[in-house]
Amino acid sequence: MLGFAERGTRRFAYGFWRHREHDLDAAMETLAIARENGIDHLDTADIYGGAFGASERLLGAIRARAPQLLKGAFIATKAGIEIGSPYNSSAAYLKSACDGSLSRLKLERIDLFYIHRPDLLTHPAELANALDGLVAAGKIASVGVSNFTTHQIAALSRFLKAPIRAHQLEFSAAHVDPLFDGTLDQAMERDIAVAAWSPLAGGRLGAASTSEFARVREALKRIAEAHGASPVAVALAFLQQHPAPVTPILGTTNASRLRECLTASAVTLSRREWYAIVEACRGFEMP
Ligand SMILES: NC(=O)c1ccc[n+]([C@@H]2O[C@H](COP(=O)([O-])OP(=O)(O)OC[C@H]3O[C@@H](n4cnc5c(N)ncnc54)[C@H](OP(=O)(O)O)[C@@H]3O)[C@@H](O)[C@H]2O)c1
Repeated sequence: MLGFAERGTRRFAYGFWRHREHDLDAAMETLAIARENGIDHLDTADIYGGAFGASERLLGAIRARAPQLLKGAFIATKAGIEIGSPYNSSAAYLKSACDGSLSRLKLERIDLFYIHRPDLLTHPAELANALDGLVAAGKIASVGVSNFTTHQIAALSRFLKAPIRAHQLEFSAAHVDPLFDGTLDQAMERDIAVAAWSPLAGGRLGAASTSEFARVREALKRIAEAHGASPVAVALAFLQQHPAPVTPILGTTNASRLRECLTASAVTLSRREWYAIVEACRGFEMP
């Protein structure tokens, strides 16, 4: 899948959740570093950026100010979280959400359109119809889901004509559930590309002082020392070495921390190191 790691390769995506609309310069600085380092996959959502539509407007503003920064970029956005509802994947809602995203992003077509979270009140047949309609109308090039269970993906696939191209899920050295809940296995079975959100557990695997995830942080530090690398790089290499393969979405808004994340590409963990991270997260040894 365009924008994602292929088997045997490593890639990153860059996420816009934390960038604020007023801080165009900071967003352009980190985006430039990401693009210079080969990242072409940019991840946003209609609800990102602190206010509805803010992050997509920010990307639209970057397109107007510095179009070269977005040249050839693969843009993924999401809809389906409705402030106050909290979820809405009805056909009418998604159609208008997609139109809103296109207009804010200043795009004619969205490369990847995710359903952000499953709406338990929309039948998968209605959701499938809505998504197939957006593909047929040329408004979206491909369909993704985020935070779905394996059963929800199976139910949607039963009705959807377009393939589900990507699943975006929470996966990090501090959150290894996808290794065991079937989502990564299903992605490999169905050839669904995987993007990992909060790959540093929202920064808690990188921040200097926190008491959270002490065991995982200790394991990352020990392995990092053996590699002469940073714990952040080890945490990201851990995700990239999963065979699915997995594309971590980097979320830092800071230029030097982004550069630190990119050093993950130079780290290759041994099997023992990789499993040691899983064990540290779960608190017990592999059987
Ligand atoms: N589909 C979903 O439901 C969902 C949910 C959440 C996120 N996402 C996507 O995933 C992307 C990444 O999520 P995330 O921002 O939580 O990712 P993350 O990489 O786990 O966390 C980034 C946060 O950690 C902080 N941080 C602290 N130390 C760091 C270090 N050494 N290196 C890097 N960052 C450090 C960053 O602060 P500074 O900015 O100050 O560096 C930033 O606030 C989002 O932008 C969004 O695109 C999707």
